[in-house]
Amino acid sequence: MESSSSSSSSTFQIDARLPKEISWGTIEFLQWEGFWYAKPHLAAVMAARSHFKARDEDVILASSMKTGSTWLKAIIPCIINSKTSAAGDGNGDNIDEEEDYDPFVEHHPNDLMPALETQIFRQDPNADLSGMPSPRLLRTHMPYSILPESIKDSACKIVYITRDPKDVFVSLWHFLNTRISCPLHEAFESFCNGVHPFGPFHDHVLGYWKESLKRPEKILFLKYEELKSDPTGQVRKLASFLGRPLVQVDEVDKLVWKCSFERLKNLEINRTGVDPHLGFTYKSYFRVGLVGDWKNHLSAEMRKHLDKITQTKLEGSGLSHSCKIKIPGPR
Ligand code: A3P
Repeated sequence: MESSSSSSSSTFQIDARLPKEISWGTIEFLQWEGFWYAKPHLAAVMAARSHFKARDEDVILASSMKTGSTWLKAIIPCIINSKTSAAGDGNGDNIDEEEDYDPFVEHHPNDLMPALETQIFRQDPNADLSGMPSPRLLRTHMPYSILPESIKDSACKIVYITRDPKDVFVSLWHFLNTRISCPLHEAFESFCNGVHPFGPFHDHVLGYWKESLKRPEKILFLKYEELKSDPTGQVRKLASFLGRPLVQVDEVDKLVWKCSFERLKNLEINRTGVDPHLGFTYKSYFRVGLVGDWKNHLSAEMRKHLDKITQTKLEGSGLSHSCKIKIPGPR
């Protein structure tokens, strides 16, 4: 749709003709360039897209909501600030000389990788990040097609994480239900129709997936399930991708422990704090942290329905989520 925003002014005018839906209880969603946004986020997305200027050294964590990005908001800063990788020589000579990087007692991982749209450009549509020292660690839920051009064109790295959509839906339902009240079946229908913040989920995933195939040195595509089953292997892979290979076994193990669900969930700050930007309690970012929790919430019919959508949407892309549909064979 034309002129849905005016980038010359400092505040973005939302075109009143954009498709609208009230869903997930009382959330007002607007559709722009193929994706749905909660109304308060859209102007910030437009501002971030127009004004953000990426640097080659930036690291951008991109994800759909509730795919496990909080885990990476902890892991990525640890990799960047690790002694051996930050030293650049990887030999770990000075490993015991400095104090270990561990900001989690005082900070929720959200603080360590600020969000472009829901935080920075929502607070100030003309935010100037030029004073932020490199490497800037930032995160976004923006779909690939909407990303600021400088993120796509510069040499900055993008780390993308995805997850089985059934677990994403269940996680999202619990998360949003800490602030709203929406029956599961209603939320499920909206999710399946792609109406949720930064949805449709599958289009979001496919945008980054396809680009990661074309430019694997630019986009690292991770899956929550693989991070759960092999955290040390995935952390090593991520560190190498970021140009900060971790060579010491002890250091990788310690990093994985520092960022573990069990540890972070039980820290005082995460048990009692509240995100000042979005108003969600910090504990709502650490619910159960499991693969397959959908089994406790979705009926067989719901499972089949969402798996079918996933299968259809991902067909031919080379990407699979754990959504095998059993077709009964002859006995
Ligand atoms: P559940 O709701 O299934 O428990 P996001 O971080 O993208 O908002 O996603 C939130 C999901 O990631 C939640 O899933 C949360 O429990 C899980 N999560 C957060 N931190 C984690 C960690 N350190 N390890 C594993 N899972 C984590």
